[in-house]
Amino acid sequence: SEAVRAALAELRGNHAIIIMSKKDPSRLITARIGNAGGIVIGSGDGEMFLASDMPALLDHTRRMSFLDDGEIGVVTRSGASYFRLDGTPVVKEVQTVALDPVSTAKGGYKHFMLKEISEQPRSLSDCISGRIDFDAGDVHLEELQFSEEQIRSFKRVVLVACGTAWHACLVGKFLFENLARLPVEVDYADEFRYRQPIMGPDDLFIAVTQSGETVDVLVSMDLARRLGSPTLSIVNVVGSQASRVSDSAIYLHAGPEISVASTKAFTNMLAALYLLALKFGRVRRVIDAERARQELQALAKVPAMIGSLMTDHSIYQQLANLYFKRRDFLYIARGVNYPIALEGALKLKEISYIHAEGYPGGELKHGPIALIDEEIPIVAILARDRVYEKIVSNIEQAKARGGVVIAVCPAGDPNLAGKVDHVIETPVTTEMLSPLVNTIPMQLIAYYLAVRRGCDVDQPRNLAKSVTVE
Ligand code: M6R
Repeated sequence: SEAVRAALAELRGNHAIIIMSKKDPSRLITARIGNAGGIVIGSGDGEMFLASDMPALLDHTRRMSFLDDGEIGVVTRSGASYFRLDGTPVVKEVQTVALDPVSTAKGGYKHFMLKEISEQPRSLSDCISGRIDFDAGDVHLEELQFSEEQIRSFKRVVLVACGTAWHACLVGKFLFENLARLPVEVDYADEFRYRQPIMGPDDLFIAVTQSGETVDVLVSMDLARRLGSPTLSIVNVVGSQASRVSDSAIYLHAGPEISVASTKAFTNMLAALYLLALKFGRVRRVIDAERARQELQALAKVPAMIGSLMTDHSIYQQLANLYFKRRDFLYIARGVNYPIALEGALKLKEISYIHAEGYPGGELKHGPIALIDEEIPIVAILARDRVYEKIVSNIEQAKARGGVVIAVCPAGDPNLAGKVDHVIETPVTTEMLSPLVNTIPMQLIAYYLAVRRGCDVDQPRNLAKSVTVE
């Protein structure tokens, strides 16, 4: 351990390391340098475990300790001792992680992904319940550490995330603009951290992350903090690094998400952003109690709506049988549903390896329309919103070029009969909540296509559940 300490002093950047010596393989030395990239040490009975993220250990133990920046752990079969880089001993608490191993088992489903898709009515209720006050027309987010005065002082919100969580942020932009009238910027964490962002105390930095361990998100949060911005994380994994280092952490309460493709965490991100935007809208006096009550009543109906989308999967199986050999898919939508087109395309790419792209419908004629022929299925997402007629006209343009159109639209649509090849109906909700119901068909289309192609749905090639390295 002396040699390791000396070597660590020469490292730059962020590192999470485990070292084994051939001469003494019964002893592992682990270290963490920097504020990104975690090390979790699990305590079992006569055995110890090391991992970069908690879910990896759940089958073995729920008793875990976490290394902080500049700490070293010396781990043997019987336990661990901890030091700082300068050799000072550290006393580390063993925490019992409140994740239920039963909820991490497949429970009769063929894949974790299908289980997690099916859990969404419940996980969404868990995210909402206890946070809605219908009488006062208000939202209670106890974890929010900012005073009302501070919330009123924010001039801008900067939402930062990666992958699916970034798509949630894009929806969040619409929510904050609509419900709180606050300007919003959305950034990929892997880009934000290498820019020279202009941030200060009036800009609220919000990290959205399922794992709370994505290295680029953690480094971005560190950068925002150094620039003087208050930080908030919207996070699923309790006790994760993001939740520990941000000024406030709002939990998603989605339960453990095992499948690499994120599903229930995404819909809970949308719900949490909706609640937060409503809260800000109330505190900033942008919306009154009556409007908030209506918005909350609409939200409370969504879990059951999503439940109704789970009962019959036959349309997805039919689509998979028809289109599983296609090489490319196009997803189009407009407004607040445009990020759902991106999410649909990402889901398909990552688990089925079919190339897919998401576009705002209005962009078709600026380039992608050249791709359309009878070989390309086009998933078009609609809502009863201000851009409904525009997307219908985009569908007509795509059909005129021979495209196969799969329309995901609110039940009872009067305009699409005869214009599209397949219709997937979704329950009618408000414009701002339509991304929640429209997400479910995106997940099921991708899932059944991947299964039909014989792909490893839960462990797609080249991907990790949480990206703890660059
Ligand atoms: O844990 P995070 O939410 O920070 O992860 C971000 C992305 O890595 C993640 O959403 C990824 O894109 C998923 N594979 C999408 O299904």
